[in-house]
Amino acid sequence: MLNILVVGTGYVGLTTGTGLAELGHKVYCIDKDLSKIEVLNNNQIPIYEPGLLELVQKNIRENRLSFHNDLKPYIFNTDIIFLAVGTPENEDGSANLSYLYQAVRDIISCNITKAYIVIKSTVPVNTNNNICKIFQQELPDAQVEIISNPEFLREGFAVHDFFNPARTLIGLNSDNAKEIIEIVYKKFIEKNIPIFFTDPNSAELAKYAANAFLATKIAFINEISDLCEYYNANIEDVATSMGLDDRIGKKFLKVGPGFGGSCFPKDILALNKLSVDANRPSMIVSAVIEANRIRTKNMSDKILKILDGTIKRKKITCLGASFKANTDDIRESPALKIIEELINLGSIVNLYDPVAIENVKKIYSNKICYFKNITEACDDTNAIIILTEWEEFKGFDFASVKDIVLNNVIIDLRNILNKDNIIKQGFKYYPLGI
Ligand code: UDX
Repeated sequence: MLNILVVGTGYVGLTTGTGLAELGHKVYCIDKDLSKIEVLNNNQIPIYEPGLLELVQKNIRENRLSFHNDLKPYIFNTDIIFLAVGTPENEDGSANLSYLYQAVRDIISCNITKAYIVIKSTVPVNTNNNICKIFQQELPDAQVEIISNPEFLREGFAVHDFFNPARTLIGLNSDNAKEIIEIVYKKFIEKNIPIFFTDPNSAELAKYAANAFLATKIAFINEISDLCEYYNANIEDVATSMGLDDRIGKKFLKVGPGFGGSCFPKDILALNKLSVDANRPSMIVSAVIEANRIRTKNMSDKILKILDGTIKRKKITCLGASFKANTDDIRESPALKIIEELINLGSIVNLYDPVAIENVKKIYSNKICYFKNITEACDDTNAIIILTEWEEFKGFDFASVKDIVLNNVIIDLRNILNKDNIIKQGFKYYPLGI
């Protein structure tokens, strides 16, 4: 069991810190945001992440997890430090590393003599090397090893993904670092979860490459879906048959309104910037960025066409606002981009989302009409648009609202409903690619 300091209590930091505590380590989570620390010290969590609250409460109870807003009192009693701060995108698409370098300066200001520092945040290639140089300059006598350990956690499934990683990816330069990392992830190694060691640059690039490839799969299937509509083919059958080939794999071939979230859009821009900086502009990555950018516009055009080109002053019911189901995160949400377009075209948007409404209100306030359930959101509506793939939407009995809608149109941008059933219930049903 190690004493571990985790800097940053966002989606990645909180899940990682709690997961490491559950693995048996004693974890001190640090965040400068006092409001977050207050929520956490009140036995609550500041984010929506299925299963995480229970795990946080369990590890606090078992005295393996605590939350603080200053690392100084804990750093000298720490075996290893994880940096899990945000690396949002800059205007030019590069990764904003200001929070990361602030955390590095905070550690240096403690005048540590020895430290293992793990970069959990997604960072551009050479960041590990650059942080090594900073420590060599600022604390030349200190023994500091910088380890890269990118995360592959999906929001909404982060707890599952932490304990069931496809691989633990480690970039390091020394055997000492390897030893301590094997102690951190001892229980994963005992479960034969692959732990892959490489150099820091390869680990940093592998993270961007993995996310960009997954984003490419999504942009690709969305493009094929448009062809299915033109050639009267069925995207679900095309995707399923493709996925039977294990060289392709069946995951991340689900058609939708485009990819969003705090990772894919940012990471694919950062990778593109790395390509430009390397004077090797990527044709593929830049095409995926553009294809995803126009996807939400194409979706709004599709909605407009289905509603005969006029939605001015018409009520439109939107189900879902977050960038995908099982999260309240609305960052880069395609659903919100489509909702914004509908508002700009003059429609009255009735919105229901199981968990993200409060986050939407902070940005759109009374530009949108908010509802607590699907039925009320459908009252008097000209169309029901499904924007995220919540189980609640899949299981809803749309026949129950047939008599209160003005226009029995359902536009399903996630293909989650059964076409035959919906049509039998008297709706005009518009999925993607079918
Ligand atoms: C992603 C990566 O999956 C994860 O490994 C990485 O660590 C962080 O970024 P996340 O952004 O939480 O995770 O969501 P993910 O489930 O990957 O979905 C990303 C976007 O792609 C969402 O907007 C989702 O709706 C969309 N998507 C995903 C599709 O449109 N089709 C798919 O088949 C899968």
